[in-house]
Amino acid sequence: MSKVRLGIVGLGNIGKFHTGYLLEGKIARCELTAVSDAHAPNLEPFAARGIATFARGEDLIHSGQIDALVVATPHFLHTALGIEAIESGLHAMIEKPISAHKADAERLCAVARAHPRQVFAGMFQLRVEPRYLEIRRLIAEELGRLVRVNWIITDWFRTAAYYASSGWRATWKGEGGGVLLNQCLHQLDMLQWLCGMPAKARGFCQLGQFHDIEVEDSVTCYLEWSNGATGVFISSTGEAPGTNRFEIIGTRGKVVLENDRLTFTRNAADMIEFSQTATSGFAKPESELVEIAFASEANAHAVLMQNFVDAILDGTPLVAPGEAGLGSVELANVLLYSSLLGQTVELPLDGTAWETKLNELIASSTRVKKVIAVQAEDIAKSFRK
Ligand SMILES: NC(=O)c1ccc[n+]([C@@H]2O[C@H](COP(=O)([O-])OP(=O)(O)OC[C@H]3O[C@@H](n4cnc5c(N)ncnc54)[C@H](O)[C@@H]3O)[C@@H](O)[C@H]2O)c1
Repeated sequence: MSKVRLGIVGLGNIGKFHTGYLLEGKIARCELTAVSDAHAPNLEPFAARGIATFARGEDLIHSGQIDALVVATPHFLHTALGIEAIESGLHAMIEKPISAHKADAERLCAVARAHPRQVFAGMFQLRVEPRYLEIRRLIAEELGRLVRVNWIITDWFRTAAYYASSGWRATWKGEGGGVLLNQCLHQLDMLQWLCGMPAKARGFCQLGQFHDIEVEDSVTCYLEWSNGATGVFISSTGEAPGTNRFEIIGTRGKVVLENDRLTFTRNAADMIEFSQTATSGFAKPESELVEIAFASEANAHAVLMQNFVDAILDGTPLVAPGEAGLGSVELANVLLYSSLLGQTVELPLDGTAWETKLNELIASSTRVKKVIAVQAEDIAKSFRK
């Protein structure tokens, strides 16, 4: 194969965004040959360009017109479409979250593992953002032992019109969660990619606090790692102007990412060693503030898409293997589950227990969702976090 014939299922906000750079020829050795969407008008512009169109994702998968599929539908369809694609011999790139809940994600990953010759990737584009790569380098080389992580990300403001724009959004049945599984999924991916998975978690999630929705739109969460490091993760879709401050403390200093500024306050000595050896009770390690410059990635999604194509054609290692999407789903699920139980939950989460709980929430939901047409949005505005 010298060129990947790519299909996309789901042509909403993000699916359309992917088609934009693909049709501009931004991805080398890749051609968008077919698309699918359940909403017929979304297919028209593609049919007009001679691209094959399908109302059903399954028909696209079995069309023989693609080598690889990008799944960009609402979350609950990711597992079934991903499994069908892989079992049909296709390479698959799954949008985040790889599945709506952990048990489904494990089913998808098990099928992918059984088909090792096909590439299975996840769209976790923050993994190529230079600011997070710098943080990863600082953690590996400079920060010492991880002590504390605080992420306040409350600038995910969403209006009532946003929630009313699609029937699946912010429902147990359509989405399986709220701000954690949707808006914060990338941050949860970063949290565990940078700091590893915590050993236990306690979420305090407010359901429909700022919007007329049944899932969580405001959360305050406590995390604890096996080495005793602790973390707080706070988010909301109802707060303006909101804050986005990511703070990581190690024994050798402190990293802060806020307002597009990355700083490292470097301790002259390891703070624990200093504490144990200092002869003065009020002494503190000397420190210096260092500004960390970082480049801006113009289209992180396209970088990951190129990596997917290169993995298919050349065996290039994936930046974001699909299986690496398990951690973020697990964190989103466990924080919500812990909140609903009213207790701390140890990880790994029992995926079946959460699936059972989620199915109860779906079965007992009485909410009838009103969907309204909203003005066309520039989704790229929501990427910079
Ligand atoms: N990586 C990112 O930066 C990013 C950004 C936004 C959304 N996403 C993810 O992408 C997915 C889609 O989000 P969105 O905001 O584009 O949603 P959306 O509601 O705007 O679009 C979903 C599309 O899927 C189509 N669809 C629904 N059921 C279908 C079916 N059975 N077969 C074919 N098409 C079907 C709908 O008609 C709609 O056009 C979500 O899982 C979301 O988490 C990722």
